[in-house]
Amino acid sequence: MGIYSPFRFFFLMTKAKRQSGIIIKTPEQIEGIRKSSKLAAATLDMIAGYIKPGITTEELDNVCNAFILKNGGVSACIGYNGYPKFTCISIGDVVCHGIPNGKTILKDGDIVNVDVTTIVDGYFGDTSRTYLVGNVSPGAKKLVDTAKKCLDIGISEVRPGNRFGNIGYAIANYAEKLGYGVVREYTGHGTGIHFHEEPYVVHKAPKDSGAKMEPGMIFTIEPMINLGTHKTKLLPDGWTVKTQDGKISAQFEHTLLVTEDGCEILTTTETE
Ligand code: MF3
Ligand code: CO
Ligand code: CO
Repeated sequence: MGIYSPFRFFFLMTKAKRQSGIIIKTPEQIEGIRKSSKLAAATLDMIAGYIKPGITTEELDNVCNAFILKNGGVSACIGYNGYPKFTCISIGDVVCHGIPNGKTILKDGDIVNVDVTTIVDGYFGDTSRTYLVGNVSPGAKKLVDTAKKCLDIGISEVRPGNRFGNIGYAIANYAEKLGYGVVREYTGHGTGIHFHEEPYVVHKAPKDSGAKMEPGMIFTIEPMINLGTHKTKLLPDGWTVKTQDGKISAQFEHTLLVTEDGCEILTTTETE
């Protein structure tokens, strides 16, 4: 997700309204971004079969990388601002940007997010899912279901003429009524030509705020929903983000295209 404070976000949005830094993609670019997005989604389909107690996050990372390479892509993550691995893998109270390593082992009852961003022919596709490891408590499962529902609610706001703020308005309205925290510091983002582009898509926003969506815009929605407080802390490794209260967090992410009459989910392998 884009690493922007809410204040930075509002600055960017003000700027965007005046000189709109949001790229409208050409049909050729859209086709390229669709292809990359499908590979990212296929990687998440594939890794589902490996999510079992006992596997390390480094093994999962390497399996994802091998799959991406075999299918003509590369990971966008490795080397991005010095990030050291191919994917982000975030367990339990890790909100996002968990760094895969050989010591962290999935265990029964965990929830784990795998976030994959691919580059194919220079185009980016970005998606994540939270998986259940073995037998997960009803409370954790409900949080994961809610995070998925929050993404779906956000997607239902994507259509030409609607404002970006209505995505975050709808998501926070739903999640907060259930007593969950909606992470503020990390956001969805334009993507496709660069990893992170304008606009920065917040998951809690005032109604009717932000720029208007237009056909050809491509961006992610990726709400991070916490069991407790919305507040986060950054670990000394400079990447790993955890909840401040140590309670668990769940996230789902899609890359989306604004179409003439609504929205196309690019990061899916499902065919209509
Ligand atoms: N994929 C993340 C996102 O959703 C970004 C990860 S940046 C990395 O925007 F460097 F940690 F890979
Ligand atoms: Co993203
Ligand atoms: Co991502």
